[in-house]
Amino acid sequence: MSTTPTAGYYDTFYAEGGWRYSLVREWWWHRRHFVRRFKLRRGMRMLEVACGMGMHTDLFCRMGFDCSGIDLCPTGISAAQQRYPRRDFHVADAKAALPWEPGSFDVIVTRGCSLYHYDLAAPGPRAATQNLWQYLKPNGLFVLIIVSDLSGSRDPVKIWQNRLEDYRMHFEPFDSACTVDWHRGLVICGARRRA
Ligand SMILES: C[S@@+](CC[C@H](N)C(=O)[O-])C[C@H]1O[C@@H](n2cnc3c(N)ncnc32)[C@H](O)[C@@H]1O
Repeated sequence: MSTTPTAGYYDTFYAEGGWRYSLVREWWWHRRHFVRRFKLRRGMRMLEVACGMGMHTDLFCRMGFDCSGIDLCPTGISAAQQRYPRRDFHVADAKAALPWEPGSFDVIVTRGCSLYHYDLAAPGPRAATQNLWQYLKPNGLFVLIIVSDLSGSRDPVKIWQNRLEDYRMHFEPFDSACTVDWHRGLVICGARRRA
């Protein structure tokens, strides 16, 4: 699909059980490429955007972070609330007002948010980053983790395979010193809100 999938697509997907993650693999991957990579400290206030069925929000809480999760898809959030009743989940659009005060989060992380799978210069992803930015504390960190083989392929029926440069250009207006890494098929961007 060449455009962001509709919430209906994920309603069906999550109603059928969604992704089957290995908790152990996800734990070690995020310890190395997220927590240690960005020197995150236990107790930090964190928001996971596009949390789907909530597995990673719960994982980040287990790692010692105070993490809430949002997703556009009500079926995903409903499943997250049932699976992880002690965690904080909300149906919300990354491009719209969120149920917190601006400046609330030390870290905003998004893994595979559909908005960032296509044209990063389009109004949707730009509006999402712009909107989420205001919910970071001064010096807060925005982390985007997303699939790409870096080939630059823009197949109209698949997700785009954006290049590192596309991510750099997306975050440039927000943080000209953002870091953009790649590890075995996943792009990891880290951008900081200036103090
Ligand atoms: C590929 S899934 C990733 C889900 C989860 N982060 C994971 O890694 O398993 C993409 C998710 O992005 C969510 N999403 C898409 N657009 C969104 C938006 N504007 N605001 C919040 N979530 C959005 C979808 O509902 C879906 O749950």
